[in-house]
Amino acid sequence: MKIVAVLYPGGQAAKEQSAMLGCVENELGLREWLESKGHTYIVTDDKEPSDSELDKHLPDTDILITTPFHPAYMNGERLEKAKKLKLAITAGVGSDHYDLEHIHKHKPDLSVLEVTGSNVVSVAEHVLMSILVLIKNFVPAHAQITNGEWNVANVAMRTYDLEDKVVGTVGAGRIGFRVLQRLLPFQCKELLYFDYQSLDPEREKEVGAKRVESFDEFLSKCDIITINCPLYERTRGLFNEHALSKMKKGAYLVNTARGAIVDRDALVKAVNSGHIAGYAGDVWYPQPAPKDHPWRHMPNNGMTPHYSGTSLDAQKRYALGTKEILEAFFDDKPFRPEDVIVRAGAIASASYGEKK
Ligand code: NAI
Repeated sequence: MKIVAVLYPGGQAAKEQSAMLGCVENELGLREWLESKGHTYIVTDDKEPSDSELDKHLPDTDILITTPFHPAYMNGERLEKAKKLKLAITAGVGSDHYDLEHIHKHKPDLSVLEVTGSNVVSVAEHVLMSILVLIKNFVPAHAQITNGEWNVANVAMRTYDLEDKVVGTVGAGRIGFRVLQRLLPFQCKELLYFDYQSLDPEREKEVGAKRVESFDEFLSKCDIITINCPLYERTRGLFNEHALSKMKKGAYLVNTARGAIVDRDALVKAVNSGHIAGYAGDVWYPQPAPKDHPWRHMPNNGMTPHYSGTSLDAQKRYALGTKEILEAFFDDKPFRPEDVIVRAGAIASASYGEKK
């Protein structure tokens, strides 16, 4: 079989750190194993349509491995080019870079799987860090030090404590729940969540979180909101001008889910006006983010490149999970049900919208 992987470039970092399994140079550690089984393994970072290395290989690719960090955007046109494609694996979590609706309607023989759970702790930790970076005004405070300055007042004037604040998560799945667990010791005033799926009563009790059914009510109650749901038709642009205006004046927003859940320009306006006190996260649309993406230069931002889910620990887990999915596929064994996003033309995951 022909297996193509699209991974991010590692460069010097890959030479210095052999545990960087998720980059082109280290190939998810799969080459020897795949070649010993007689498969052809192509690994590239060249992904932009329409004359990339990826596009050249698509017509005879059987299995495509991609990551959310350096996403190959697989729209309908590309999916139609990939006539032989049977299995698409996301080495990580989040398969929104595939047109899932197109697969659902037109590609009944293509399964989409991801390595569910592989980096959820990594992201939850990044969310906590981002919340603290924003409310402690860390970025400008650190910049003072490296710039040779010392002005306590200038940074203290926008610095708060997490204790006694209302914090809410959009999505209380694997990451959202872990964020709530990690917030618990900070003694926030209230922990809230907005999700069409309720947490089990026991889990809800464990973190002391309350579900809010109305989105507008949720928005108006939180001092800090963290977004932890997938990107699909119901969440694309969920944080538009209207939603941002419903947030408390001076609230903070953290998004490590997907860039396109937040309306790019509406956010810039809300941050510039001070209605949103700060925005942090690591996800953008598109990725890599263009040099002139306005979130790079927005005031009070704690943005990073998309790396929260690719810590060295996470890379080990999603490389192993990718191998396990391939093994199951080659041996015609069942997949782990939680890894299956689309199978036999149906969206199988409960996380991509309520099933009536
Ligand atoms: P999960 O499937 O365990 O949880 C997602 C939750 O979102 C579910 O409870 C689902 O019901 C809820 N949800 C779906 N639509 C919703 C809506 N319209 N409103 C409110 N809630 C909604 O997924 P997990 O593992 O927690 O990951 C969540 C997302 O985080 C992924 O889909 C991915 O986009 C992103 N992610 C980002 C990473 C990074 O490196 N920054 C790494 C891993 C995931």
